[in-house]
Amino acid sequence: MMKAVVMKEFSLSKGLVLVELPVPKPQSWEVRIAVIASGFNPIDWKIRAGKFGGKTERVLGCECSGIVNAVGTDVKSFCVGDAVFALPFHRSSNGSYAEFVCLPETLVAKKPGGLSFEQAAVIPLATLTAYRATRSVSSCIDGANVLIAGAGGGVGGFVHQFVKMQKDVSVYSLARDAASRQFLEEKIGIQRERILIYGGLSESEIKQGLMGMTRGALFDATYDLVGGTTKNVCLDMTNYSGHFATTLPEHGPNPPAVWPYSSIPFGRNLSVHLVNIGAELDSDSRATWTVYQKQLKLIAELLEKKSLLPPHTTIVGSLSADTVQKAHDLLHAGRVKGKLVMSVNV
Ligand SMILES: NC(=O)c1ccc[n+]([C@@H]2O[C@H](COP(=O)([O-])OP(=O)(O)OC[C@H]3O[C@@H](n4cnc5c(N)ncnc54)[C@H](OP(=O)(O)O)[C@@H]3O)[C@@H](O)[C@H]2O)c1
Repeated sequence: MMKAVVMKEFSLSKGLVLVELPVPKPQSWEVRIAVIASGFNPIDWKIRAGKFGGKTERVLGCECSGIVNAVGTDVKSFCVGDAVFALPFHRSSNGSYAEFVCLPETLVAKKPGGLSFEQAAVIPLATLTAYRATRSVSSCIDGANVLIAGAGGGVGGFVHQFVKMQKDVSVYSLARDAASRQFLEEKIGIQRERILIYGGLSESEIKQGLMGMTRGALFDATYDLVGGTTKNVCLDMTNYSGHFATTLPEHGPNPPAVWPYSSIPFGRNLSVHLVNIGAELDSDSRATWTVYQKQLKLIAELLEKKSLLPPHTTIVGSLSADTVQKAHDLLHAGRVKGKLVMSVNV
C-alpha cells in the first residue's frame, strides 16, 4: 500500500484526505517512480475548482522527482535505481501527491546531477511550458523588446531564461508591488527600470506606463502568463509582425475569436501561440508522446550544463492534506514567487 492525498470533491477549501491506496503496477511501456518530491502548479487548484470537469475523486499533482522502482517489459531508457524527474500528466496511474506513480517512460528524464530532488521536482511542467512558449516556435529574436507578464511565477522565470538565450533582448515585466519588483530584479534578473508596478492601475494606465518605459515602442514578443485583462494588455502591446503567446485558455461561454479581419492578430500580422503543455498527450498514439521525452532530455542537458538554472523553490511541507491545502491557497492567491514543492518519501 502507499500513502496519497486524494481530492474527494470539487472544492477549493475542503475535500483533501490522506489515504492508503494500492501501489500501482507499471504497464509494459511504463516506469514506476518512488516519489521523493512533488511540485505544485496552478492547474492543481484549478482542477479542484472544477474548471476542467472530469473525475472528482483522484490524486492530483503533475510533476515529481524520485527513484525508478520498477520498469515495464518494453521500457528501454530507464533501470531500477535511476534518479529521475517526470511529468505525471493525463497518462499516469495517479498524480504525484503519492508515494508511487506509474507513467510512460516518454514522460520521464534522468535527474540532472547538480539538482536536489526538490529542485528537480519543480522543473518538468513549468520548464516544458516555457520552452514551448519561447523556443519551439522561435518566437523571440536577437535584439527583441519583450514583455513577460507573470515573470516571477513558475513558468515566467523559465520564459525569462529562454528569452535571454537570444542576444541583446530587453525584457520588461509587471510587479504587483515593491516586494514583487525586488524579487523580479534580484532573483529573476530583470532591470528595475523595466518593471512596472501594476497594483492599483487600470488596464489603460498599465499600457501607458509600459509605453513610457519603452519610449512609445510596442513589443516584438509578449508572453501572457496571467490571463484576464493582462492578456488584453499583452496582445495590445504587441508590435506589427510580432509574436504573442499565452498559457491561459478562455473558459467562458463566448471566448473571443482571434480570427476576424478587424482583430489585432490579423490587423498586425501577429503570430499567436496558444500554449498547451498537454496537447500531444490527448492523442492515444504513444508515438506522439515522444516529443516530451526529447524536450525533457534537452532541458535536463541545459540544467546539467548550467545553461538553465533551477528556480527559487520553497518547500511547503511533507506529504499531507494540510501541505497540499497550504500550497493551493498560496497559488490561488496568485502571489507565488518561483515554485512550491512538497517532500514525499524522505
Ligand atoms: N496552457 C498550459 O499548458 C499551461 C501550462 C502551465 C501553466 N499554465 C498557466 O499559466 C499561468 C502561469 O503559471 P505559473 O505556474 O507561472 O503561475 P504562478 O507561479 O502562480 O504565477 C504567479 C506569478 O504571477 C504574477 N501575477 C499574478 N497576477 C498578475 C497580474 N495581474 N499581472 C502581472 N503578474 C501577475 C505574480 O506576481 P505579482 O505577485 O507581482 O502579481 C506571481 O509572481 C497559470 O495560470 C497556469 O495555470 C498553463
